[in-house]
Amino acid sequence: MSDPSRPRGPKIIAITNQKGGVGKTTTAINLGAALAANQKNVLLVDLDPQGNASTGLGIDIRDRDHTTYDLLLEEAPIEKVLKPTSVERVWIAPATTDLSSADIELVSNEKRIHLLHDALRAPTVADLGMDFILIDCPPSLNLLTVNAMVAADSVLVPLQSEFFALEGLSQLMLTIREVRQTANPDLRIEGVALTMYDFRNNLSKQVEADARENLGNLVFKTVIPRNVRVSEAPSFAIPVLEYEPSSKGSQAYLALAQELLSRE
Ligand SMILES: Nc1ncnc2c1ncn2[C@@H]1O[C@H](COP(=O)(O)OP(=O)(O)O)[C@@H](O)[C@H]1O
Ligand SMILES: [Mg+2]
Repeated sequence: MSDPSRPRGPKIIAITNQKGGVGKTTTAINLGAALAANQKNVLLVDLDPQGNASTGLGIDIRDRDHTTYDLLLEEAPIEKVLKPTSVERVWIAPATTDLSSADIELVSNEKRIHLLHDALRAPTVADLGMDFILIDCPPSLNLLTVNAMVAADSVLVPLQSEFFALEGLSQLMLTIREVRQTANPDLRIEGVALTMYDFRNNLSKQVEADARENLGNLVFKTVIPRNVRVSEAPSFAIPVLEYEPSSKGSQAYLALAQELLSRE
């Protein structure tokens, strides 16, 4: 289990896959909202310079005065960076494009892979009363993603139910192994979540069969269907759970949250 030398605090989950467009941000927002619907306090950390999670939760670019860039490179404390969202029990540490230079600036920093860990494991974090911190990673295995893995208790991997889905997974697993060997021996794999699943499509079924055969129990039982409501919700700057609670997408993310909580 967790390192006893660490202060008691939230469970930190890095949502990672170096492929873009596989559902990382969508999962961060909607799993966050679904955990909040289960009375959990959730902090979303936007670690992608594109800032899609921040936008998807309605944080106007002009209101991103303190960001995850400041958290990493300006020693800004998390309590100064986080903002409430329109969703009860969901907060966000927003990102702007400033973060795109962080990857390079980190290289010369002695603590380059530990900065997010130090920010999110600071003693004051326990006082915030968060149950979960979800980190929305960029589509790359760069220093930002490594920071997320060093800070995290576990990694959650969204896997798009598409051709070549499993391609690149071995690279991701290699990075996880390296992080375990160097900086975070306790890093677990929370699970692999199949996203954008099309129940009418044999390809989705094939990808699921391959994933379950290769990864076994690591694959969540819950699959997230391709659902137009899920893709529409961000343009209203709310999670699908608020946009259309009865949609298949909402129900799937609630089920994923339940599955995650039942594994605790
Ligand atoms: N379950 C889903 N159903 C329909 N569209 C989805 C679903 N999940 C993600 N999308 C859409 O796919 C695109 C990529 O998703 P996103 O979460 O931004 O991926 P990533 O963060 O991995 O780059 C977005 O336009 C998003 O709205
Ligand atoms: Mg994203």
